[in-house]
Amino acid sequence: MDKLTFVLICHFGLEKVLKSEIRKLGLEISEVTDGEVKAIGNLSDIPRLNFNLRTAERVMIEMSTFKAVEPDELLENARKCEIEKFVPVDGEFLVTKANQDKNSVLKSSQANQKTVKKAFVDRLKKVYNTNILTETRGKYPFRVKFNKNICSIRLDTTGDSLHKRGYRIKAGLAPIEETLAAALVKLAEFRKDKVLIDPFCGSGTIPIEAAMIASNIPPSADRAFVSETWNVIPRESWKKARAEALENINQDRLAMKEIKIFGFDIDPQMIRIAKENAERADVADLIHFEASPVENFWNLDCVKNLDGGIILSNPPYGERLEDRESVKPIYRDLKFAYSKMKNFDMHIITSFEDATKILGKETKNRKLYNGMIKTYLYSYLANA
Ligand SMILES: C[S@@+](CC[C@H](N)C(=O)[O-])C[C@H]1O[C@@H](n2cnc3c(N)ncnc32)[C@H](O)[C@@H]1O
Repeated sequence: MDKLTFVLICHFGLEKVLKSEIRKLGLEISEVTDGEVKAIGNLSDIPRLNFNLRTAERVMIEMSTFKAVEPDELLENARKCEIEKFVPVDGEFLVTKANQDKNSVLKSSQANQKTVKKAFVDRLKKVYNTNILTETRGKYPFRVKFNKNICSIRLDTTGDSLHKRGYRIKAGLAPIEETLAAALVKLAEFRKDKVLIDPFCGSGTIPIEAAMIASNIPPSADRAFVSETWNVIPRESWKKARAEALENINQDRLAMKEIKIFGFDIDPQMIRIAKENAERADVADLIHFEASPVENFWNLDCVKNLDGGIILSNPPYGERLEDRESVKPIYRDLKFAYSKMKNFDMHIITSFEDATKILGKETKNRKLYNGMIKTYLYSYLANA
């Protein structure tokens, strides 16, 4: 098969981090737009991208791009989309999502989905010379996106979003997505030998993602993907990519006795959950979890002699957990605890508007989206 264009989806604001992950896997970047990075690769990259990318939500194949302002134009062009390169005569093909923008003439995502499905039925009946499509084998989920009248048809290779790594069965009220947590760890410039502390660790997502990065454990080698059953991708590619991902695990870092990653939370129940999640992610030995209110963690035996490291956390925002007034003392306590730490950078992701009024002027900030919530990552650098 010819070269493929992959569309990798990420949280708005994380495109740069994702780009560097894709480059490390050896693929060439062809385009970057809000929440999307495109890269050129081939079929055997499908397992590699799905197993190894920490900050992407899904891996899709760009099937076709064209202008359409009338339903007939959409139908005609979608009929030209060579889906038989992937979908066999008995394959189940779905048009699951149609992303719509206000600036396109064809506004109804439901109608667009229907038109594309009809075009695909017409095409497959013609190319396979049959009147019956049983749709009984495999799953081929297509997505339709409109942007300023340009329609893109994509084939999803991932299935359940990549933030569903599989280790986080339990969580609190406002867990951060695993993909975003991994991106924060990278933005904080965490390296495998650095100290990292999350004083509001909740279900442990940030420390767990940091431990997986430190020991190079692939984020998704243990889960299933919708494209794993497709005939077009040789079994051997999945086997090889999984073996390669597992071979790259840093066994020396896993065996290191000195614990450098810490998670604290005021709620002992969350600490229990975090420990269970870390067990499932195979990184329990790399993290020290302990119940502690934020104003005290700096004085714990395991922390008080540390010199240099990173505090990275998402404290309560005052939006989903408590109201604004009740979170103010938490940020004051965090400021106090940070003042006790020697040579630590601090990175705080929050949508709480008064955060920097309380914590002080940040060295830099980045706008990021945690789901639908606009947040900022405020960075305080020790050597600024
Ligand atoms: C937004 S959640 C963190 C979610 C976490 N990143 C995760 O993925 O599960 C905030 C956490 O702060 C904890 N918390 C609230 N007040 C605290 C305090 N004073 N000291 C320490 N932890 C506190 C809550 O129990 C909650 O788990």
